[in-house]
Amino acid sequence: MCGIVAYTGPRDAVPILTEGLARLEYRGYDSAGIAVIGRSGDLRVRKAEGRVAEMAAGLPARFKGGAGVGHTRWATHGEPSDANAHPHVAGTVAVVHNGIIENADELRAKLVADGIELTSETDSEVLPHLIARSGATELEDAVREALSQIVGTYGIAVVDTRHPGVLVVARNGSPVVLGIGEKEMFAASDVAALVRYTRQVVHLDDGELATLRPDGFRTSTLDARATSKEPSVIETEEAAYDAEGYTHFMRKEIHEQPAAVERALRGRLDARFHTAHLGGLDLDPREARAIRRVKILGCGSAYYAGQMGAQLIEELARIPADAEPASEFRYRNPVVEADTLYVAVSQSGETYDTLAAVQELRRKGGRVLGVVNAVGSAIARECDGGVYLHAGPEIAVASTKAYTSTAVVFALLALHLGRIHDLSPADGRRIAEGLRALPAQIEEILRQEDRIASLAGDLAKYRSMLFVGRVRGWPVAREGAQKLKEVSYVHAEAYPASELKHGPLALVSPELPTVAIVPDDELVDKNRSTLGEIRARQGRVVTIGHRATDEDAVVVPKNEPELDPILLTIPLQLLAYHAAVALGHDVDKPRNLAKSVTVD
Ligand code: AGP
Repeated sequence: MCGIVAYTGPRDAVPILTEGLARLEYRGYDSAGIAVIGRSGDLRVRKAEGRVAEMAAGLPARFKGGAGVGHTRWATHGEPSDANAHPHVAGTVAVVHNGIIENADELRAKLVADGIELTSETDSEVLPHLIARSGATELEDAVREALSQIVGTYGIAVVDTRHPGVLVVARNGSPVVLGIGEKEMFAASDVAALVRYTRQVVHLDDGELATLRPDGFRTSTLDARATSKEPSVIETEEAAYDAEGYTHFMRKEIHEQPAAVERALRGRLDARFHTAHLGGLDLDPREARAIRRVKILGCGSAYYAGQMGAQLIEELARIPADAEPASEFRYRNPVVEADTLYVAVSQSGETYDTLAAVQELRRKGGRVLGVVNAVGSAIARECDGGVYLHAGPEIAVASTKAYTSTAVVFALLALHLGRIHDLSPADGRRIAEGLRALPAQIEEILRQEDRIASLAGDLAKYRSMLFVGRVRGWPVAREGAQKLKEVSYVHAEAYPASELKHGPLALVSPELPTVAIVPDDELVDKNRSTLGEIRARQGRVVTIGHRATDEDAVVVPKNEPELDPILLTIPLQLLAYHAAVALGHDVDKPRNLAKSVTVD
């Protein structure tokens, strides 16, 4: 949610900032801007509503500088507009900000009472004014003084023409990562903006501030105690952040799933004991046996993957498990139990609702395990232990490969817990073999893309769709509806197939097609009779399952019943993607959304 990038060094900052912003645009894309300190020491600012490319296109050739900050925005306070776009400026100071300043109204009122004219509706605009008013000699101290007046979350980057070549960045709840170059320094909210320039990075912790000069950096706490940071190396290839010939990141990421699943499985299956080993779990067999309940928390697709995970854990380990939206859990004063294993799921590792749920759990003494994609992210660091997805960067706003990898990691966790509880070696072997078969089976589904695309083109003409599934098919249906809504804006509602006759059957008509998840499991006959009820009311039915019953059937390869839901989700991703393409939408950057929701 919003991206920041900053640079100081001998090169012209402008192309570095605009290129970095373009790579961060998936985080927010309603307005963009940059501010640089020109060679003559003046502050040059350009910001505009719209995409980064539009903002950059209007830059005059003489717009250059040696240090600068940039921002791409997803509006929280104030509509997308030129005035509300970042950087915000006060005299010699320019600031870009991610996060929310909760006491902004109060601070704005004080500034106005002191005769300051505010030009935007944003909470962020108070920051440059507070910094500019400080009497501190060093920019770092002025920023510290300003931040001491702020209540809320922030990732910020600041330049001041009185301190040419100096950048100050700070973090509290919104990520900031420093990039170390050769006689130049970078900072960004996400390594995606840095990979082209350096692989040496330093992740700031909450409550930390850094001063960057071309020849290095120093870090300290908000109360000015020096901290020491070891740089780490970005392992991911630069190409992973590019579309690599695909028209959209979403399609690229759907096609990356066989490789992502291989990575999620690599080194984790134990052929001797037919179990799984998860390095970061930090749970010995005795502790694992003592778990009486598993509670999974995540938001959106991470929550639906968690629901699939809960089913796998109940089925394979026979431990009661359920999933709940982290965004609800954190507000309802939950009962936290010592013998419950809490699992936080997040692709970005930044989702504020999930992070807040983890913090509340830890405060109450709950044991929390993270299932996270982004290495070193806030949620990963906040948890007691964790399992990384290794899915690689996910850039499209709609989650696909991270969803699938999360489900695979849950299958591994369920296998691990199951083999410590009552899952037999034979069943352990059956599940392990099923997991090993997944990449090739996903490839097989991806080969049906053309057919699914033509079905999607056909379905895209309806205004609304029902997605139904029973038990194992229910989280699949929910994720299918979520994907369709997000990228195609076609209204989609997911229902448990068993609940149809208790209400939503009233909606069924020739105008409302149903996408039904029909695995060949012990419930197949029940599912078929539900579909009969829909067809009897002239509702069109598209089945995603294991049998070709009519022309509207998508047939996926059969795996073990517990693992089938992972495969059944893949055609729904393609369906949503191609419906959005058919409708001419901006698939990777759907309206009103951003990749990671780092605000309350
Ligand atoms: C997925 O397609 C969505 N964009 C969204 O629901 C997402 O899964 C959710 O916001 C959680 O994100 P996270 O996994 O980064 O925590």
